[in-house]
Amino acid sequence: MNGPVITGVRSVELDVRDMSRALEFYTQVWKLTPTGAHTLRGSGPAAHLLKLRQAANGARVRRVVFDARDRDQVDRLHRNVAAIAARCGKPAPLDESTGGYGFDFTDHEGRNLSVVCDVRDHASNLDDSDAPQKIAHVNFNTADIDATLAIFCKGLGLSVIDESGPLVFLHGDNTDHNCVVIAKNGKTTLNHIAFLMQDVNAVMRGAGRMKEAGYPIEWGPGRHGPGNNVFCYFAGWEEAPLEYTCDIEQVDGTYVPHGPDFWRFPPGRADRWGLTDPHSPRWKRIQDLYSFTSDGA
Ligand SMILES: [Fe+2]
Repeated sequence: MNGPVITGVRSVELDVRDMSRALEFYTQVWKLTPTGAHTLRGSGPAAHLLKLRQAANGARVRRVVFDARDRDQVDRLHRNVAAIAARCGKPAPLDESTGGYGFDFTDHEGRNLSVVCDVRDHASNLDDSDAPQKIAHVNFNTADIDATLAIFCKGLGLSVIDESGPLVFLHGDNTDHNCVVIAKNGKTTLNHIAFLMQDVNAVMRGAGRMKEAGYPIEWGPGRHGPGNNVFCYFAGWEEAPLEYTCDIEQVDGTYVPHGPDFWRFPPGRADRWGLTDPHSPRWKRIQDLYSFTSDGA
């Protein structure tokens, strides 16, 4: 990689209509741990994975935050993003209790995004095999693939690692196959947020926990083509499109990208195992339910 590159997704900020019920879901069922009134961490070191905000409308994404390695990377990423973003702030110390340094910007489709570094993360991991470890990827729907790839590739330094049907998989500055997925489906909404679990058992225990709490599997369990990760998809609290995943393929510079023809499954099959049924109509609907707020505040 020659230019600056983000290392992955740090956190997502969501609007919720009912804060207390949302916190109950994300702690007791989804198995995140509160770190403040409205912030929730996983078992990994990241200060938090989710920040919730009470909002009358709900069902909105307020911000997606990406990590960069250090201030030099943030400053270099800023120069690239500022040249093409619809609006771009200047790199500065973050106004957060966990410190950090970074900048925020709004892309051409109105997504509020941030790049940060030097956040004061937790000193140790949580010893909880049911807890999500980190955000594995965010899948963004787009109505303008060229402009979106300009932001994520020219701006944030990601590289296209595979393409499958309408999906473009983007690889960052780490060994995970992908950390961002773009869905070419004519919309400008959130497709879903994927949380990395320890292993297949943790995904399946999570699926059981969700089912018992009234959140049945909307698609899965299965194993994807690109990335080779295991998946179960759910309509979470306020129908947030959520995924438990694990086993994301670890790649290096020798990985050979492939296109949609290579990744096409035979008729009747939707995953590597040949196990899952097609996704539910509800999953199809909620893949387009969460829009991005027009203000980044
Ligand atoms: Fe996913």
